[in-house]
Amino acid sequence: MRVMGIETSCDETAVAVIEAPAGTQAVGRILSNTVYSQLAEHRRFGGVVPEIAARAHLERIDGLVAQALDEAGLGLADLDGIAATGGPGLIGGVMVGVMTAKALAFAHEKPFIAVNHLEGHALSVRLTEPVAFPYLLLLVSGGHCQLLTVRGPGDFTRLGTTIDDAAGECFDKTAKLLGLGFPGGPAVERAAVGGDPRRFALPRPMWRKPGCDFSFSGLKTAVRLAVEKLPADDPQAIADLCASFQRTVGDVFADRCANALALAPSSTLVVAGGVAANVYLRGRLEEIAASHGATLVAPPVRLCTDNGAMIAWAGAERLRLGQVDTLDFRPRPRWPL
Ligand code: KG4
Ligand code: ZN
Repeated sequence: MRVMGIETSCDETAVAVIEAPAGTQAVGRILSNTVYSQLAEHRRFGGVVPEIAARAHLERIDGLVAQALDEAGLGLADLDGIAATGGPGLIGGVMVGVMTAKALAFAHEKPFIAVNHLEGHALSVRLTEPVAFPYLLLLVSGGHCQLLTVRGPGDFTRLGTTIDDAAGECFDKTAKLLGLGFPGGPAVERAAVGGDPRRFALPRPMWRKPGCDFSFSGLKTAVRLAVEKLPADDPQAIADLCASFQRTVGDVFADRCANALALAPSSTLVVAGGVAANVYLRGRLEEIAASHGATLVAPPVRLCTDNGAMIAWAGAERLRLGQVDTLDFRPRPRWPL
């Protein structure tokens, strides 16, 4: 089964083609995975500007579809389905992806699958690792921070979520306060190298509280106060603060996942979403999983941030179950799992 996936919910225009096996336990194969990052267009605004994003998606999408097919060595006629992120996300961008997928599906008489972006992240691990359902999932991105039990496509139980900000947002804010640039996650991770993770004592919201909810607004405020007191032109102080911040997020993730593993025991803990690209945090999660007799499984770093392959894979998982959408599907700015 060959499926195209289109991702346009934020600031990456991405189109991929994957091959999915017939059986539900085998991994897939990425035939092409193209992405146009709009970073340069948003950088001077310090964040994603929805109107600029929508226009950039529109300008790039046709070229990326052609490139993805070309790199896969396939034509549209060779595909078994066309999937696109149907939400949640910036609605202008989601509309561009959905309309493109619908038009291609209609013209070439192929099934159309509207994929929930969060489900794309949630199932992405199965594209490259033979992970069986059910598994426990920590989903950490720029807009979300949740713990879930994943039983299959469309079959999730939410154990906890953030009561204010997402973890990725907290990374982005920290980077902005320190003038490290955008997006913040990779910048903070780079700046933390060689830093002293014990120099700054930052608050760990929700730490040692029952349940699996998260909170990051207090940590964000504490980072702002620490930045205000930072000596000028002191790269070591910046490295120390980034390392301390990362350790604090690691403590919170470990504590929340420990509760989740106790409440909903699972032999597999999966981490996905942009923040899952952080190597230090992956290490912390590996430790906490092992201490509960579980194994951490994560997608390769390049498949953690937004990409078309995860949308194609989630589309394939749905297609296998006969779960396709009609062409009157309406893009959804909000779409909880
Ligand atoms: O999943 P994603 O690409 O987009 C959303 O669906 O939101 O996640 C983007 C988020 C951003 O907040 C970004 O700063 C964060 O993931 N991120 C990271 C790293 N790479 C990306 N956070 C921490 N460490 C990283 N290496
Ligand atoms: Zn995402």
